Amino acid sequence: MIVMGIESSCDETAVSLVERKKNKNFVRSEIVLSQIPKHRKFGGVVPEISSREHLKYLDKIVRKILCKSKTSINEIDAFSATMGPGLLGGLIIGSNYAKSLSLSVGKPFYGINHLQAHALIPRLKSVIKFPFLVLLVSGGHTQIILVKNINSFEIWGETLDDALGEAFDKTAQMLGLRYPGGPEIEKKAQKSLGIKKFNFPKPMINQNNLDFSFSGLKTAVRRKLQLNNLSEQFVRDISFNFQLSVLECLINKCERAINLFRKKFDCDLSLIVSGGVAANIFIRKGFKKLAKEKGVKLIVPDPKYCVDNATMIAWACIERMVTGDLGDKLYTLPKPRWPLDTL
Ligand code: KG4
Ligand code: ZN
Repeated sequence: MIVMGIESSCDETAVSLVERKKNKNFVRSEIVLSQIPKHRKFGGVVPEISSREHLKYLDKIVRKILCKSKTSINEIDAFSATMGPGLLGGLIIGSNYAKSLSLSVGKPFYGINHLQAHALIPRLKSVIKFPFLVLLVSGGHTQIILVKNINSFEIWGETLDDALGEAFDKTAQMLGLRYPGGPEIEKKAQKSLGIKKFNFPKPMINQNNLDFSFSGLKTAVRRKLQLNNLSEQFVRDISFNFQLSVLECLINKCERAINLFRKKFDCDLSLIVSGGVAANIFIRKGFKKLAKEKGVKLIVPDPKYCVDNATMIAWACIERMVTGDLGDKLYTLPKPRWPLDTL
């Protein structure tokens, strides 16, 4: 079974070919073209630029993928693309492209939910049994999700305001760092002395639920900045202390989620931490410690599969095909808003 995945919901144009042979999975070829340099000067993603870039490069990348992997279009068994959530322009371009290929070679089309793909990608290489927990921390989402099956999800907790990636990006902007802010803050924090210097808030940490809030933390950083000069050392210390508060919030809520899971289910627990922010080494280390303490199997995908990529789209398609799902109608429309618990 060979499947093509296309991801174009935000600022990456990505294409991947994933093969499943005798219950083993292989990535035949994958390309992620980041548009970051095009958006950087605007401090965030500009939807119009994003659509134009997808339009310009998608066809070239598909041709390159076929050539690199020596695959003929007729060997491909299904075509999949992100159908939502995301920016409508990119969703239309990617899904229409996949639909056209499917129509031209007479193979099925699958419109994939981007969040479902983030949640399932660790199953490409590891055996992870349902149910399991996912902490999804990306630029658009911060959620604790119970995954009951490949298309059955319960949102146990989520952010009430900014997504965590967004909080990283906005904080970085205040510190004069470039977009995207997450990796920049991480680099600055690595160069700090690693000392707790500021008492930044840990919003909602004492509330007995699994929800998050990051806008207060951002405001606390802003207030600190108003009282100080932006020296290099100060930026490093702020970055470190920001990450420290963020990690405490994430660990606190995930610990509660682990306890809740154990009350509800009598089975081993796997915790997956995914989404762009999961590429952060400080956060990955914090979760390793938590997993050890709580006796949980922790799976954090390779950083290239934490951020947006098309292998996760092709893989989610294979997961659906294996359950006998025959695909989506070609008149199915992209959904810029598509919460996981409405699948
Ligand atoms: O999952 P993703 O690639 O795209 C979305 O679906 O949103 O996540 C992008 C987000 C950005 O906000 C970016 O700043 C953040 O993930 N990010 C990071 C790191 N790498 C990317 N945040 C913290 N540390 C990182 N190393
Ligand atoms: Zn994403």
